[in-house]
Amino acid sequence: MGNFFNEYLKTTDERLLSKWTQYFDIYTRELTRFRARPISFLEIGVFKGGSIPMWKAFFAEDARLCFVDIDPDCAALAVPGTKVEIGNQADPAFLADLAAQHGPFDVILDDGSHVCAHQVASFENLWPHLADGGLYMVEDCHTSYWPGFGGGYRNEASWIEYAKRLTDRMHSWYTDQDTLFPFDPIAKELHSVRFYDSITVLEKRVKAEPPATVYAQNGKVTLSRRALEIRGRKSAFAGKDGT
Ligand SMILES: C[S@@+](CC[C@H](N)C(=O)[O-])C[C@H]1O[C@@H](n2cnc3c(N)ncnc32)[C@H](O)[C@@H]1O
Repeated sequence: MGNFFNEYLKTTDERLLSKWTQYFDIYTRELTRFRARPISFLEIGVFKGGSIPMWKAFFAEDARLCFVDIDPDCAALAVPGTKVEIGNQADPAFLADLAAQHGPFDVILDDGSHVCAHQVASFENLWPHLADGGLYMVEDCHTSYWPGFGGGYRNEASWIEYAKRLTDRMHSWYTDQDTLFPFDPIAKELHSVRFYDSITVLEKRVKAEPPATVYAQNGKVTLSRRALEIRGRKSAFAGKDGT
């Protein structure tokens, strides 16, 4: 693959790093555009500290890198130019302090307990502290299919089911069933929900205006939001396929 990560793995020291093989392509695809900027990065989950020097080498010298773990032993694993904070990723008070000290973040990567309720709690408490244009990534989402992690196939409490509902909420501008499916303000800032094998990526892009349709003809371009107001829509093509 020849990306940064494959080369980096050959330079690792005694700190154990463990990631699924597919993650490095995903990191390359999602994070390359953040490399050259003095961004603020947060990773939840330190373990043996293997990812700390990896992210230090990946991001710009002046990027701010912060790591979180519940295990106090992890505090000793910071490398120069990084911070390790000790606390529980599901504790709103800890996360509020963390965000006040180190936020807003451009990239948040949850590689912590992988317990679904913790993933949801971290997202709900940290999403407001993600900068415009930032990414919120949740790793090892396959635990959503494991009852022991609060998951299980189509378990409403799993992270994956929560993320699927985020997809609905992102589209709530277009609701045609206002009582069943009301507008959700997260639609104003959730740009996309991207599902990879075991990683979910939520991108924030604050939208000043509701989405609009572009009409272009003879070089004249106009915008319309009329389609957002229509109720009881029907396909203009109904019947043309024989139905
Ligand atoms: C998968 S490991 C992190 C691996 C590390 N990111 C890497 O790439 O080498 C998960 C870590 O999450 C920590 N953890 C477990 N529950 C947590 C919680 N509730 N809050 C914060 N960290 C937690 C564990 O102590 C463990 O060190």
